Amino acid sequence: MKLAHKLLFVLCPMLVLGFICYSSGKLHFYVWGQKPLFDKQGFLLNPDIKLPPELVYQYGNLSEGACKPGYAAAKMTAIYPKFSKPASMFLDRNFRRLAKVSNYLPPFGFKTQERIIDSILTETKNYGLPELDGLSCKRCVIVGNGGILSNKSLGSRIDEYDVVVRLNEAPVNGYTRDVGSRTTLRITYPEGAIQKPERYEKDSIFVFSAFKPLDFKWLRQMVLKKDLQGTEGFWKSVARFVPRDPSEIRILNPYFIQEAAFQFIGLPQNNGLMGRGNIPTLGTVAITMALHNCDEVAVAGFGYDMNAPHAPLHYYETVKMSAIKESWTHNISKEKEFLRKLVKANVITDLTNGILTF
Ligand SMILES: *[C@@H]1O[C@H](CO)[C@@H](O)[C@H](O)[C@H]1NC(C)=O
Ligand SMILES: *[C@@H]1O[C@H](CO)[C@@H](O)[C@H](O)[C@H]1NC(C)=O
Ligand SMILES: *[C@@H]1O[C@H](CO)[C@@H](O)[C@H](O)[C@H]1NC(C)=O
Repeated sequence: MKLAHKLLFVLCPMLVLGFICYSSGKLHFYVWGQKPLFDKQGFLLNPDIKLPPELVYQYGNLSEGACKPGYAAAKMTAIYPKFSKPASMFLDRNFRRLAKVSNYLPPFGFKTQERIIDSILTETKNYGLPELDGLSCKRCVIVGNGGILSNKSLGSRIDEYDVVVRLNEAPVNGYTRDVGSRTTLRITYPEGAIQKPERYEKDSIFVFSAFKPLDFKWLRQMVLKKDLQGTEGFWKSVARFVPRDPSEIRILNPYFIQEAAFQFIGLPQNNGLMGRGNIPTLGTVAITMALHNCDEVAVAGFGYDMNAPHAPLHYYETVKMSAIKESWTHNISKEKEFLRKLVKANVITDLTNGILTF
């Protein structure tokens, strides 16, 4: 009798604990010998990727092919319950209130750069996307720079999106059949920016993404149309003039770099400092931004076929795949694991099918 009591005394709390673990579904522990429910990053291992009933009901009324409000965020939440949608695309005058980024140095936050950011925002005076912010449903496509875009004639399909995001120096002229002709946002860091002013497209918003403190100094000079004083500290030559009015320049919220690195991909925290293999690529940063700010998200030009060393690395250069170097800053294979989760669960649509293929 006494033994049975003791046994109950031990068993009860264990059962209760087990039940809590099981029902909360947030912990990735083994539950009574079952396989873990979540991976280390907090993504469901065997996602039941059904939409919530209220969305099924809402989308049921939409005509075939219409933009589905809240679709990407709902799909993301289904595989990653921690996902919280609100995160503004760009920094605005209230940027100091962004708690998650105020305590991190670049690239994961803006600590130490507050004054220079203030001076930049005073000039740019615009912190949103006037025409697009009003849309009730936005479809975004992130056009990566991969050679996989070549000869697929996806240009007209890409141009149908409300927001076409391009990265760094990726050209449009001469490649419109494959990559489209519209550019809504061009996201760049100094070393990646187009250097020849005549190569900029007519109208696109220049979105700056900072990876190091020095980058903000560069941006201030570009906004003020002033000369750069020295270029030491950049790892390659940088643009010295950006042919954009200050009102056409934005600062990307560094939260997307932080979230992509530490939450989504699971790169080393390194005390919140830039370190070996903990910087996400700009493409994944752009996808992260889109998950928070677009209703539907597509990508094109992502995925490198490492088994085809002679295939072109970028759609606009003859540099071959074999030239890709082991990167100190990025962790391409870990990043790919994350992108695969998104494509597999239909959170994003991959127009060139490179993410699951390679
Ligand atoms: C869908 O359409 C039906 C019939 O027109 C209507 O009764 C219902 O309220 C609509 N649902 C939504 C979410 O708009
Ligand atoms: C694309 O097509 C052109 C012309 O047919 C060809 O020269 C080129 O090698 C092709 N590029 C790729 C990446 O297949
Ligand atoms: C990428 O991540 C894997 C797994 O965590 C690790 O073994 C590898 O060393 C990392 N590569 C780089 C370049 O940091």
